Amino acid sequence: MATQIISVLATSLCLFIGWKLYRRYQINQAYSKEEKRLAAIAQQEKQLELDRQQAIVDWHRTTTQALQAAIMRDHHYTVRPDGTLIVAHPPRTQVQVTEQVEQQKQIATPASVPGRYDMREVWNTGFRPSTSQIWLAKGAADGIIVPANKLLHSIATGPTGGGKTNIVRMELMQLIYIRCEVVLMDIHYAPIKEDEDGNPIDWRPIVTRLAQPPIFNMKTIIQWMKWLAYTELESRIARQRSGQPIGRPIFFTIAELPAVLDEAGDEIADPLAKVLRQGRQYQIFFVGDSQDLLTKTLHMSTGPREAFRTGFYTGGDATTAKALLDLPNGVKLSEEGLGQQGLVYLKTAVHPYTQARVGWASNESLYELFQTPASERIGMYGRSYHHSNMVDSTADSAEDFSSSAGKKLSYGRDPEGAWEEGRKETDTSDDLSVKQALRDIGKRLKNGDDRAKILQSYGATSGRANQEIGAVIDAMIEQIESETN
Ligand SMILES: Nc1ncnc2c1ncn2[C@@H]1O[C@H](COP(=O)(O)OP(=O)(O)OP(=O)(O)O)[C@@H](O)[C@H]1O
Ligand SMILES: [Mg+2]
Repeated sequence: MATQIISVLATSLCLFIGWKLYRRYQINQAYSKEEKRLAAIAQQEKQLELDRQQAIVDWHRTTTQALQAAIMRDHHYTVRPDGTLIVAHPPRTQVQVTEQVEQQKQIATPASVPGRYDMREVWNTGFRPSTSQIWLAKGAADGIIVPANKLLHSIATGPTGGGKTNIVRMELMQLIYIRCEVVLMDIHYAPIKEDEDGNPIDWRPIVTRLAQPPIFNMKTIIQWMKWLAYTELESRIARQRSGQPIGRPIFFTIAELPAVLDEAGDEIADPLAKVLRQGRQYQIFFVGDSQDLLTKTLHMSTGPREAFRTGFYTGGDATTAKALLDLPNGVKLSEEGLGQQGLVYLKTAVHPYTQARVGWASNESLYELFQTPASERIGMYGRSYHHSNMVDSTADSAEDFSSSAGKKLSYGRDPEGAWEEGRKETDTSDDLSVKQALRDIGKRLKNGDDRAKILQSYGATSGRANQEIGAVIDAMIEQIESETN
């Protein structure tokens, strides 16, 4: 009997010890799993920080000395022994927080944001878009510029007339200049649109360089978005898994997004939300605008809106401002002047939110960037604006994207090719525009127009264009005077 009791007790003890050991093993396993997870997160965060710092360093390598001086002055940069620049402290905030009567925090408008400017003035400083620099706006200190691979998903928000389309146009022209694949969807597409004052906005230099003709048919937009989210994205994921190049970066835009989403509902909202969530890792990026980022406007949960790493806020909705600009709790922006003549709040993957001014993406700035021949321009340099100037290069029917755009976009990504440097087009027909301009200036001088008026009509109010056109006018005045004497 006693032996039996001892044997039962011994077995129970063994079972108990065994169970204890197993529990200890389980707890150890869980610990080491958690440690690994935390280490991976720390590693990811470290890599993100390194990427961010590297982007800043790359940017500084490529910006002009003047820009660097201004940035070093205002953002506390330090020079490393090897000559590269590194952030010593987080950039000094360019806005002040003031206490409102109703105890609400409000950010005062920084007085130093420069006035309205044309993107041509940016080109006149010698700046050209490249993989390492995409111009976004002028801040209080200097240009706000990001490398192309840090633009990521980008959105401009705000009420009607706040300059959202201009922002998208300014981004698209640069992405096209550096030869990214850009796809434009616009239910109200026209190659030349009119603004509210009836001035023509010429989209042709952009349109002719798109990855495929603009898509304006709703059915085709739905089809393309589904192809992007469920075919192209999935095949990029599979390609990466099998160690193949994922494909060239794609930037796509959907004009008047809220209206499109209202009409198409989940048919577009679902694939769009998927691309916003997952596209970034696979080089598929949205560049667009919306009146706000509210869930009812975007027809999606709040998750995907966190994906916008470049955000332009032109006013109108505090909830959108908070989500888009990563505003700290309790901070409310001053809306004064926002959305007028390019004034915005801007946040990027490498800049905290700040007030800044976007340049006017005039037709002339587009023509100058792409060296559009005079015969293809409208307005001051080129032909007058008639509907006959329009080119019809639109897609009006549903396409098999896997065989057309799909193929074009899916070719393997060569490291240089994907983000290759912008190329200057050597279009000799530019001579034609000079000849036409000379003829025009001559005629106007003979008609009694004065120098300043002619200069102004060429949009040349400052910089190199002013000097060059001014010199031409002076030479012609001299010639006319010598002929009449
Ligand atoms: N950066 C800028 N500098 C000067 N004027 C600008 C600028 N951006 C926009 N504007 C002016 O504001 C007008 C409206 O701009 P835009 O069409 O881009 O606004 P929007 O927000 O897209 O409007 P909507 O909601 O009606 O589409 C332009 O026609 C232009 O006159
Ligand atoms: Mg618009």
